[in-house]
Amino acid sequence: MKFAVFASGQGSNLQAIIEAVQRGEIKAELAVVFSDNRKAHALKRAQEAGIKTLCLCRKDYATKQSYDRSIVIHLKEEGIDFIALAGYMRILTPFFVKEFPKRILNVHPSLLPSFKGAEGIKDSFTYGVKVTGVTIHFVDEKMDHGPIILQEAVKVSEEETLESLTEKIHKVEHRLYPKAIALFADGRLKIKGRKVEILNG
Ligand code: GAR
Repeated sequence: MKFAVFASGQGSNLQAIIEAVQRGEIKAELAVVFSDNRKAHALKRAQEAGIKTLCLCRKDYATKQSYDRSIVIHLKEEGIDFIALAGYMRILTPFFVKEFPKRILNVHPSLLPSFKGAEGIKDSFTYGVKVTGVTIHFVDEKMDHGPIILQEAVKVSEEETLESLTEKIHKVEHRLYPKAIALFADGRLKIKGRKVEILNG
C-alpha cells in the first residue's frame, strides 16, 4: 500500500511516521508528503528523508472544491491508497472525503469529542481540565468527528504550563499515531458504525 501524509507546519508527527516506516513498523510506502504551506518545516523533513513532496496553495484556486480536486488528481496519479493527516490545518471538503472513504486518518491533540478544532491543547489547558489526551480517528465529513481508532489520556499536573502540556501531548502523539497507521496498513482496523474494532494480527 502507498500512503500520503498531509502537514501544514512543523511536521513532528510526520517525522515519527517517517521513522516508523524506516524501522519497518508501518508496512506501507510513504510516497508523498503534501502541504498547503510552502514554508512548512514538514516539507524539509520529507525532502531530507528522500520522500516526494507536493505543495499547492489554496489561494491559487477559485474554490475549496477545485483545490481539493487538484490534490486528489495528484494523489490518484501517485497511486495513493490512504492518507494520514498530521497537523493539516484545513478542513477537507466532502468531495475529498468521498474520494478516500474510510481511508483518511487524523491525529487530534485532545480526547475527542472534547476540544475539537485548531487549538485543542490550548483550549483544554485554558478550560482547566485535569485530564486530556490524544485521539487518532478516521476522517468523515464532519470536523474531528469520525470513528475513533486509538485514544490515550494525559494527566495535567498542578505545575503544568501550556508548553509542558504541549510537549507531553506530542510525545504521546508520536507513539500513538504510527501505531494506528501500522494497524491500518496491516488491515487490522474494522469500522462498525462509530466503533473501530482492532483485529488480531
Ligand atoms: C499536532 O499536535 C496535531 O495533533 C495537531 O497539530 C499538531 C501538529 O504538529 N492537529 C490538530 O490540531 C488538528 N485539528 P506537528 O506539525 O509537529 O506534527
